[in-house]
Amino acid sequence: MQRLLDVPAPAKLNLFLHVTGRRADGYHLLQSVFMLIDWADTLHFEKRSDGRISREDVHVLEGLPEQDLCVRAAQALRAATGCSDGAHITLHKRIPSQAGLGGGSSDAASCLIALNRLWNLSLSRADLAAIGLGLGADVPFFIGGHHAWVEGIGDELTPLGLAPARFAVLKPPTGLSTPAIFGSPSLRRDTPSATLAGFAADAFGFGQNDLQAVALVLCPEVEEALDLLARCGLMGRMTGSGSAVFALLPDAATAWEHALSGLPPGWVGRTCSNLPSHPLYGWLE
Ligand code: C5P
Repeated sequence: MQRLLDVPAPAKLNLFLHVTGRRADGYHLLQSVFMLIDWADTLHFEKRSDGRISREDVHVLEGLPEQDLCVRAAQALRAATGCSDGAHITLHKRIPSQAGLGGGSSDAASCLIALNRLWNLSLSRADLAAIGLGLGADVPFFIGGHHAWVEGIGDELTPLGLAPARFAVLKPPTGLSTPAIFGSPSLRRDTPSATLAGFAADAFGFGQNDLQAVALVLCPEVEEALDLLARCGLMGRMTGSGSAVFALLPDAATAWEHALSGLPPGWVGRTCSNLPSHPLYGWLE
């Protein structure tokens, strides 16, 4: 096999995100539900005979702060296995960056899964998740391949089934930096432990996003985004460390569809469905 084309890397929404503590190394202890949605980047992989790892973008939506994460994923996979094959990686970026949608982490996860196949490495899902954790706390979720109840720093995953549903997703022009949000002195880090049973009783309405209060101060556009959803009759909430917000959509969502067609410049909005599972789930044992 010399090429793998049109490899998807889907985004995620955090249905809720509670910060329950902080570890000695500064990483935060979380409880969250991560949900896969049908907004995806696309990657292409070509084997290089000269052993180099290279990368290009089909087009660049914005600054792409995580742009080297694909190359770092490839290097981490070679370091873990001793493989010396090369690859040229092309990324067609569609998921906005600095949005809390997990785009950079998902790209890295899809790189690990695809290069595992292109280079005939036969690593297991658990092996790839362990390598992925070194690239970012959210990467193991995308390798796991299912919606998940997530604890620890984002690395303790319990697969979860969710009813099919549609969501309004809205990203204001300004993005947010994950370290800036988690590093804020005003972040509350003491939310009491939730239970899976408590979540299951109200999956799409449970809990809150503890990072949202900090984000609203750092980026007033998050408030504008929530206001826009509210004017459409939708109860919005931020995903991850923002700045994108989302809301569960009822069957008829005329006001949202109307708002989508008239978004101000720089705003990105989309109607998304949750996925039954990661499109690359079957690529790993
Ligand atoms: O792991 P990742 O590179 O995605 O995390 C980016 C930053 O977010 C970390 O450097 C850390 O500041 C913060 N973070 C955290 N606790 C987590 C996940 C991320 O403090 N569980």
